[in-house]
Amino acid sequence: MEAVGLNKTYAAASHAAPRPALSDVDLAIHRGSLFGLLGPNGAGKSTFINILAGLTRKSSGLVKVWGMDIDIDHRRVRAAIGVVPQELNIDPFFTPFELLEIHAGLYGVPTARRRTLEILEAVGLLDKAEAYARTLSGGMRRRLMVAKALVHTPPVLVLDEPTAGVDIDLRRQLWAHVRELNARGVTILLTTHYLEEAEQLCDRIAIIHHGRLAACDTTEAMLRRIGEKELAILLDRDLRTVPPAMAQGGVGAACTVSLPAPRRLLFRYRPAQTSIAEILDAVAAEGLTIADLSTEETDLEDIFLQITHAPLDEGGENEADKGTDAGDGGDAHPMVL
Ligand SMILES: Nc1ncnc2c1ncn2[C@@H]1O[C@H](COP(=O)(O)OP(=O)(O)OP(=O)(O)O)[C@@H](O)[C@H]1O
Ligand SMILES: [Mg+2]
Repeated sequence: MEAVGLNKTYAAASHAAPRPALSDVDLAIHRGSLFGLLGPNGAGKSTFINILAGLTRKSSGLVKVWGMDIDIDHRRVRAAIGVVPQELNIDPFFTPFELLEIHAGLYGVPTARRRTLEILEAVGLLDKAEAYARTLSGGMRRRLMVAKALVHTPPVLVLDEPTAGVDIDLRRQLWAHVRELNARGVTILLTTHYLEEAEQLCDRIAIIHHGRLAACDTTEAMLRRIGEKELAILLDRDLRTVPPAMAQGGVGAACTVSLPAPRRLLFRYRPAQTSIAEILDAVAAEGLTIADLSTEETDLEDIFLQITHAPLDEGGENEADKGTDAGDGGDAHPMVL
């Protein structure tokens, strides 16, 4: 899937000025990828997904799905993509079995090639195959939505918050299924507010903020970007300030020391530049006794918060991006980290 210079501005309500929901988004999602699209509420994730799925019209830009331009190959794009929209839209008067059969019919899947029971089993709804959809719980309905998107065996699956409201066990079951589909070659794009989900599942992650692409990288590189650790040391007595020798950069390179509580010294450091032994030596040199210690690594949540809390400038770049253009021919682009 590919978007180039994608813009979307919804028609404004009479009293408000129109604000773009997507601004100049360039994003490529490669075949076989398991791609996570993250961003705060209202960032533009569903707008992006709905444009891919043909549910929302773009204002401008080029969008391709499975290599086909959505403006030209409209019908073939629809056949290539399975979408789980954010809103539940299940007809309550049918059973899950009937719903999947009808949906398969709409996509022209011949009876002999339908996989209704197999799909129901995959989403953990086999025992509900004959129940009225209105009797399903919220999480079951969400899983039925995922099942609906699979009936025509699309090569591209787009999931808008597939696990919202799904309990932990079933979420893991859904993850396993998503992984399995991906391993079988299905390209998957998903949005989620569970950062752990993106971290565990996705090979690449993009973060959208105010309709602009604020970051896009492999999950691994994204996690490495900050690469900062925190070491908290609990002391056996109170301090009033950080010892001056520590405060003045005395603890290795690029290590900042703070005193969030009288007995708690907090070191933020980059393991590549400062070793934990240097920190412990500095503590010992001050004659301080360690009562306890704990460390914390940066995770996707820290990176997400850093990107989405940074002020946006005109070009949509933020603090996290400064000076980190990928150097692809000097073409400074806000999406490249
Ligand atoms: N049909 C619509 N008409 C007008 N404005 C809309 C419409 N749909 C979305 N918007 C606006 O577009 C912006 C992006 O919304 P979108 O639904 O894409 O966000 P999102 O990233 O999916 O958020 P969430 O995490 O809450 O699902 C928001 O400002 C929203 O108010
Ligand atoms: Mg949304």
